[in-house]
Amino acid sequence: MEQSDNYNSRRKFLKSSVMGSALLGISSFPSLAESIGGAATSSLKMPSGQKTAIDMSAPPIPTVRVGFIGVGNRGWYAVRRYTFLEGVEIKAICDINAARIDITQKMLKEKGLNDVVSYTGGPDVWKKLVERNDLDLIYITTPWLLHTPMAVYSMNCGKHAALEVPAAVTIEQCWDLVNTSEKTRRHCTMLENCCYDEFEMATLNMAQQGVFGEIYHGEGAYIHRLNELCFGKKEDGTGKDYYEDQWLLKYNTMHTGSTYPTHGIGPIAQIMNVNRGDKFEFLTSTSSNQYGITKYAQEKYGIDSPQAKQKYMLGDINTTVIKTHKGKTMMIQHDVTSPRPYSRIHLISGTKGIAQKWPVQGIALEPDYHHYLKKEEMDELLVKYQHPQIKKFGETFREISIKDEGSHGIMDYLMEFRLIYCLRNGLPIDIDVYDAASWSSIIELSEKSVLSESKKIDIPDFTRGEWNKRQQLEFAEKS
Ligand SMILES: NC(=O)c1ccc[n+]([C@@H]2O[C@H](COP(=O)([O-])OP(=O)(O)OC[C@H]3O[C@@H](n4cnc5c(N)ncnc54)[C@H](O)[C@@H]3O)[C@@H](O)[C@H]2O)c1
Repeated sequence: MEQSDNYNSRRKFLKSSVMGSALLGISSFPSLAESIGGAATSSLKMPSGQKTAIDMSAPPIPTVRVGFIGVGNRGWYAVRRYTFLEGVEIKAICDINAARIDITQKMLKEKGLNDVVSYTGGPDVWKKLVERNDLDLIYITTPWLLHTPMAVYSMNCGKHAALEVPAAVTIEQCWDLVNTSEKTRRHCTMLENCCYDEFEMATLNMAQQGVFGEIYHGEGAYIHRLNELCFGKKEDGTGKDYYEDQWLLKYNTMHTGSTYPTHGIGPIAQIMNVNRGDKFEFLTSTSSNQYGITKYAQEKYGIDSPQAKQKYMLGDINTTVIKTHKGKTMMIQHDVTSPRPYSRIHLISGTKGIAQKWPVQGIALEPDYHHYLKKEEMDELLVKYQHPQIKKFGETFREISIKDEGSHGIMDYLMEFRLIYCLRNGLPIDIDVYDAASWSSIIELSEKSVLSESKKIDIPDFTRGEWNKRQQLEFAEKS
């Protein structure tokens, strides 16, 4: 079989790295090696008793009662964001690390919230929170491998689930989310905040109004050096000793491909109508070898240290190209080791022009397509096409996000607000389970392609043929 050489050498590698990884204390870390050979790539037949969750709504919830699992770096800020939102009640928090519970409770008490219940203890203690009968939404901000099991359990217990990115790390997990949401009629959303950033929302609006003509190419990325964070020891102001359990390093030790693709994919997939008139068809993916993590480990711990001798699977830079059913292309990059400025690229190219956000924001349109618009002209255009959701709520959230300096500005707040708004009004959510599954599916599929010399890999249609039912993303509003 075509995969055999690389697959076998990867298995050999995984074996040796599992032995080596005992040095890093990660010998028990689960690997996806088995799934690389036999991932479920299609589940087109709808299991009996299920129906599509496209445009699914659920009964309105006047006050959304929320339980949070994982109050580390991101989760602590999520809880704090909810203290600023209307129509929510923070009922319970859970973390296996009691220190994180204490620091979150301290913040809640400073805000006068004295009745939030805490759960801490062993790795399954979160189930007690989920099983409470006074919760509507479970907000999951734990390490990646836990997202899907926690969301599936939550939906099976009658709760809506909101998962940090990525929603899933295997195709099997993607299908689990889809099947459970369809079966239980509970929402499952992925908290892809980058979709709600101002430039991204403006370009979505421009695209939907035809400013770029027919869009046939998009580029997105997650280029963000994380070596320091991966290896631990960096204070973020909340008393958090970053990733002391090194879960991200462990994942990147055992995996290659595009391990964190959704920040790059989400906004361009929305603009290019993926799952709403088009769909992912196949991908090819290529990674460079790994140099950066080893260099960092050598410098930090010494060349003879276990960390420097450890083998790391993740190539420094991964480039994944996706082709859609309608013959359009997307280029997605992932690089968390190179010493270079942050970028999500966010480029869209159509028959009438182009926009890009990184490294320098620019828009060029016919007839003067050789030159980017002057800054004043671009700013004028961005005001003209400011997304209606930002027009309506932007200023409110701008003020709040200035007070909440740990958030990523408006985008985090707009994302939370939209979810709560839809739940309170019984409306379909913006980022549904099919988006969560298809954007997350790139993780395993890109790894599979990288490990088989960039072989073409088909991408499952998680909508089961219903991708053409809607034609573009609509932000549901109460009538
Ligand atoms: N959207 C964004 O901009 C953004 C930014 C940062 C992180 N994230 C995502 O948020 C998630 C969490 O990242 P983080 O930076 O907060 O990591 P973190 O390690 O700081 O926090 C994870 C928390 O989960 C807790 N946890 C682990 N296992 C648990 C279990 N079994 N039960 C309950 N709690 C458990 C840990 O103790 C920790 O406090 C990741 O998926 C990450 O990709 C997203």
